[in-house]
Amino acid sequence: MPSYVITGVSRGLGYEFLRQYSSEPESLVIGLVRNKAETDKKVSEDPDLKTRSNIHILQADITDYNALKQAAADTAKFTGGSVDCLIANAGYVPKFDAVDGIGDLGDSPEELTKTMRDLFEINVLGNIHFFNLFMPLILKGEVKKVITITSGYGDIEITKNFDLEASPLYSVSKAAANMVIAKFSAQYKKDGILFLSVCPGVAEVGHFSGLTERQQQRVGAVAAKFMEYAPHWKGPQTPEQSVAAVRSVIANASIEKGNGGDYVSHFGNKQWL
Ligand SMILES: NC(=O)c1ccc[n+]([C@@H]2O[C@H](COP(=O)([O-])OP(=O)(O)OC[C@H]3O[C@@H](n4cnc5c(N)ncnc54)[C@H](OP(=O)(O)O)[C@@H]3O)[C@@H](O)[C@H]2O)c1
Repeated sequence: MPSYVITGVSRGLGYEFLRQYSSEPESLVIGLVRNKAETDKKVSEDPDLKTRSNIHILQADITDYNALKQAAADTAKFTGGSVDCLIANAGYVPKFDAVDGIGDLGDSPEELTKTMRDLFEINVLGNIHFFNLFMPLILKGEVKKVITITSGYGDIEITKNFDLEASPLYSVSKAAANMVIAKFSAQYKKDGILFLSVCPGVAEVGHFSGLTERQQQRVGAVAAKFMEYAPHWKGPQTPEQSVAAVRSVIANASIEKGNGGDYVSHFGNKQWL
């Protein structure tokens, strides 16, 4: 019975990971969320998910070390002491830097500082603690895969080749998250654990709702950059399409194929859109 621990399953791509992996009756899916009561309710009211006995929701803010530690202990009780696959999906996607360049954000130094610190706590440090605390379980698992859901924004090549200014702080956090995966791979590849960073492409989960009028005017410029990079790009995918593609990349990747520590897209390569 393959077991998965997925962070941030309350909504967006995380909820879709929960839906798709739990559709395999032989799988056991443990979802970590900040608000357990809310997610339990959502699952219990979901016509597809409400009858699935292979879903367990645990409470853990990714920035709360003790909560993560407790979640690892609770997970071990459900699984018998092992986990096959970790998916670090929880992430902070701020609106503050969504369409602006890094220099423009300097006009709001306090918000810049707070946003960058929160990004580091959630997207980087949270995953380091998550991986370390669940490592004893992964070492006892059969599949031994640890995945971070990253972003093409973390790629320095596309940033410099296409002068991608948008989401600078978020991009810094995802580039750091990729390095976290590479460093864990450097240490644990010899133990047979595959560490992998996968970008899910652009999926419509409402990230561009609630922007100020000024920000909305700049969204077009961001989309134009995407089109310049990938003229064939048709716009955001559904979460269902995105998660299906990421699952396929996860299933196909292996240490034997040389994927340890890789940073790839939902296509399994460096084509981000
Ligand atoms: N959608 C895209 O186009 C896209 C593109 C590239 C990369 N990504 C990445 O995909 C992942 C999922 O994002 P999404 O698009 O599904 O975004 P989303 O709809 O904003 O969902 C973010 C998830 O992360 C959780 N989360 C945030 N802070 C947390 C914390 N401190 N502790 C625990 N959970 C926390 C949220 O929980 P709450 O409900 O409690 O807030 C929510 O479940 C992220 O890592 C994101 O960077 C998404």
